[in-house]
Amino acid sequence: MDVYFTICAVAVLLFLLWRVSRRPDGFPPGPRGVPLLGYIPFVKRHDPVYPFKAMMKLSEMYGPVVGFYMGPRQAFISVCGYEAVKEALHNDDIIGRPHLPAQQERTYGKNLGIMFTEGQFWQEQRRFTLRHLRDLGFGKTSIEDMMIDEVVELLDEITAVAAADPDRVVDYKGIFNISVINVLWAIVGGERYRRDDRNLKKLLQTLETIFRSGNALRSAVPMPAFVFRMFPFLREYFGTRNDLFTALIGYFESVIKEHEETFKENEPRDFIDVYLQEIRNRSDPTFHVEQLVSIILDIFAAGAESVTNSIGFVLLYLLHHPDVQRKMQEELDVVCGDSLPKFEHRLRLPYTEAVLMEVQRIGNIAPFTVPHLATKETRIKGFTVPKGSIVSINIHSVHNEVAYWKDPHVFRPERHLDARGKVIRTDHFLPFGAGKRLCIGESLAKNTFYLFVTALVKTLRFSAVPGQPLPTLNPRNGFTLGYEGFLAVTHRRC
Ligand code: HEM
Repeated sequence: MDVYFTICAVAVLLFLLWRVSRRPDGFPPGPRGVPLLGYIPFVKRHDPVYPFKAMMKLSEMYGPVVGFYMGPRQAFISVCGYEAVKEALHNDDIIGRPHLPAQQERTYGKNLGIMFTEGQFWQEQRRFTLRHLRDLGFGKTSIEDMMIDEVVELLDEITAVAAADPDRVVDYKGIFNISVINVLWAIVGGERYRRDDRNLKKLLQTLETIFRSGNALRSAVPMPAFVFRMFPFLREYFGTRNDLFTALIGYFESVIKEHEETFKENEPRDFIDVYLQEIRNRSDPTFHVEQLVSIILDIFAAGAESVTNSIGFVLLYLLHHPDVQRKMQEELDVVCGDSLPKFEHRLRLPYTEAVLMEVQRIGNIAPFTVPHLATKETRIKGFTVPKGSIVSINIHSVHNEVAYWKDPHVFRPERHLDARGKVIRTDHFLPFGAGKRLCIGESLAKNTFYLFVTALVKTLRFSAVPGQPLPTLNPRNGFTLGYEGFLAVTHRRC
């Protein structure tokens, strides 16, 4: 009897394991992993530090589209290389977002905001947000003066720090973020922060902890939120510190409350007022205060980290390549004369533009897009992508494709210039993604990045600290990539 029971139990177990690990017809090739856990525990094997490199290694083994399971039933499709990435980004059946309980923890336990919503709700909120951010100055040259004021204050602070040190050494960790946030916040919240604002500094530190502890792959495992509440240590392993968002949410709620108290009908001061007006004008329940808080959270989180790190990486690469710094300064001096660089100079600064592009290519602060979700069964490169699959799109793999870039590991701004010295525009360069999920901050980010970097490089000269090794170019891991803080000897040029 016991023997029969054991045989039956084992048979049932084997059958269940077979059922859960069965792959649909046409599923992309990929590693098997183990039943229930899938392949996630083994990803580190391919690269112990960076998940985007691990995915590229898998793609060398299986091809540009790799499929495996994470957890018992969650299909995960990794897409690498220009052709497959382009196809995935322009496939409208893959523009959903995973419904992750832990993700909803950020925003009142619901899918709110822009970055992690989908369907008609996302489309309408994204369109509204983008239209009004543009009207208020996003990506417009009309906010140039305000941006230059921020840059000038930043330059003064760096100059003062350098002057206070006998060797003119400046620590570049966390030095740009308040200036970058001020540009964004002028449009969203209508306010300017002082450089020593302690509350803002604390919020920015929290944001840094969230981003740097993030794991783009493991955080996509659909773990129920209560598991993290019961076993908080699991947050570290899964790379998701969504519990820390509470401080930011509380702050944005208080800013909105202040706006409500001083609100004047049809006299919007900033994006918060525009959205509050829309809530009053509509009977439509999809516009509400929790959604406004969530949009601001998305914009603030995406905007603060990304531009700040991009600027930091430029200075790091210029420390490693003084010849590039010199060439950039020569071009800036000739084109801008005594003035600080402005938008009107941009088209006459091709070498500078090429440096900015090369840092974005090689520094790659967003190595993956935000995870996409297949909203119905579809195909990539002929493989079946089942409905509900998480699709991880690897931008790093496009920026490092040998077939197109030839020597992608080399920092060489000239690769972006043609024989006549004009900037080459190519869709092999896509730091902001592409298709319907394209970054909504692209134009603001490009403008801020350009004005800040050109002003810094024209006004200051950066060099390595004598007797010390050059600071590392290796990025700090996380949801995005960050630069390690570094020291540089800093002299004022003009
Ligand atoms: C150098 C700076 C930046 C880079 C490299 C960058 C890159 C990206 C990338 C790769 C995506 C994902 C696209 C996808 O999922 O397919 C994205 C999405 C997004 N970005 Fe940016 N970004 C930057 C700056 C900004 C700024 C300044 C903002 C603030 C407005 C912003 C707001 C967003 C939002 C809200 C999304 C989600 C869009 C959606 O899901 O519809 N980003 N960004």
